[in-house]
Amino acid sequence: MATALCPGSFDPPTNGHIDVIERASRYFDSVVVAVIANPSKEPLFSLEQRSDMLRDALTHVDNVEIASFDGLLVDFARDRDLGVVVKGLRAISDFEYELQMAQMNSNLSPGLDTMFMTAKPEWAFLSSSLVKEVARYGGSIDGLVPPGVAKALQGAFPTP
Ligand code: PNS
Repeated sequence: MATALCPGSFDPPTNGHIDVIERASRYFDSVVVAVIANPSKEPLFSLEQRSDMLRDALTHVDNVEIASFDGLLVDFARDRDLGVVVKGLRAISDFEYELQMAQMNSNLSPGLDTMFMTAKPEWAFLSSSLVKEVARYGGSIDGLVPPGVAKALQGAFPTP
């Protein structure tokens, strides 16, 4: 059984994240989405909210599990016996950091591989940070995030 590990902050999940997870679920027998409990940047949404938003947006995908972790990704991967990390790449700017992380992870845990999936062009400009910024100032995030996430953002940044 090949299982893909899709880790991230998901603060909040965007349609770009959901697309990569959905596509990974077609290539792998199963996918474990690992939500980091305490990202380096203080999250807007709690771990429970971020996990629920992912669960909600992925109800139509049978072979996906939403899990969480704290500390090093390699430790989570080892505990769960997962050997392949799958991450989305939007641009060359992502690649530099992602490559560094992939190589550090492989150094910490030889045998842990990282595969990159290119973002679909329609989601390539999307990021959780930008979505939060647009929502904070009352801009439209229609079609950029799953409906549950749009609702949560409206709750976090109510329009006057
Ligand atoms: O959604 P993000 O912010 O791009 O996710 C980054 C994440 C959570 C996957 C990455 O920061 C991570 O794996 N953090 C766990 C700590 C860790 O293992 N650090 C060393 C990686 S080289």
